[in-house]
Amino acid sequence: MNTAVYMDYNASTPIRPEAAAAVAAALAIGGNPSSVHGHGRAARRLVEDAREQVASAIGAPAAAIVFTSGATEANTLALRGSGRARLLVSAIEHDSVRHAVPGAEIIPVTPAGIIDLEALKALLASDSRPALVSIMLANNETGVIQPVAEAAGIAHAHGALAHSDAVQALGRIPVDVNALGVDLLSLSAHKLGGPAGVGALYRREGIALAAQLLGGGQERSQRAGTENVSGIAGFGAAAALVAGDLENARRLADLRNGLETKIKSVAPHAVLFGTGAPRLPNTVYVALPDISAETQIMTLDLAGVSVSAGAACSSGKVKISAVLSAMGAPADLARSAIRVSLGWASTPADIDRFMTAWTGLSARSLAA
Ligand SMILES: Cc1ncc(COP(=O)(O)O)c(C=O)c1O
Repeated sequence: MNTAVYMDYNASTPIRPEAAAAVAAALAIGGNPSSVHGHGRAARRLVEDAREQVASAIGAPAAAIVFTSGATEANTLALRGSGRARLLVSAIEHDSVRHAVPGAEIIPVTPAGIIDLEALKALLASDSRPALVSIMLANNETGVIQPVAEAAGIAHAHGALAHSDAVQALGRIPVDVNALGVDLLSLSAHKLGGPAGVGALYRREGIALAAQLLGGGQERSQRAGTENVSGIAGFGAAAALVAGDLENARRLADLRNGLETKIKSVAPHAVLFGTGAPRLPNTVYVALPDISAETQIMTLDLAGVSVSAGAACSSGKVKISAVLSAMGAPADLARSAIRVSLGWASTPADIDRFMTAWTGLSARSLAA
């Protein structure tokens, strides 16, 4: 049994028991939802029930939900499928948005990590070709909540479509497609207690998208391929828990705020990112000057605490977080930033375990 403490919910959440049970039940049924026989009809029922559950979690009609293999595919379908000549994406988007098309135009963010709405207006006014604006609802590194409703209003005033990657938001803050006014919205099951490998794109009625996967015509010809029935059933079960998750958000915020207070008391020189803006209740993004994120993660891992780094190391080179760069954080500080993210199974004991391991590191930082 893994006794390590998991504090990396923004990377992926542990599966909720209800979602795991729904996956297992669907696997036991089997069948292809396109088949007309009883097994096929049972599989179809699971898919359509889950569609209702996912739709209702975001205030959408079931027919507006297209199931995909995850948010990466949902983002690709939204951005590539829109066929818009101009794609305007914020500087802090997930790579699956920033790299969905070559030549996307970048909307800058303020040092607090919030998109610059004036810059968005200027970009839209500078060119009249049809555009799509993509702004995430909450950032995966800082947790900063973006003014998506305002951005959607600006996009529409310029005749542009509005897309939002709401992967990190669902289950943590209310997500309502009508209140947000977006045309397209991406979701991923494994960020809210469902299984990985399944997600959805919300598509407002009347928005035409070019399918990116062609074949059997599933998902109203928006996404070919036999549906991942068990994954979709698990996604539906997790989405059905969203209302309860929102009630628990206060508990998470208390845990998170307590953690940040402890961090500041043992290491007043530590730098917390995103605190000057509205944030998700579960995310702490902290830099410990002079101690690399890699060292912190390895030390925490040895102590049985799983967190992630703001910087990614590939081929021996440390790549600084694009989010922190866009916020204008100095490179040295960005290299020492780690992200601690909490969720449905987090407890005060997890916070204590983290602090025990991290306090030793912070003492080394003071000595450095
Ligand atoms: C903000 C954001 N968008 C998209 C994705 C990609 O989601 P998926 O793993 O379902 O493809 C992630 C996952 O890391 C994410 O954090």
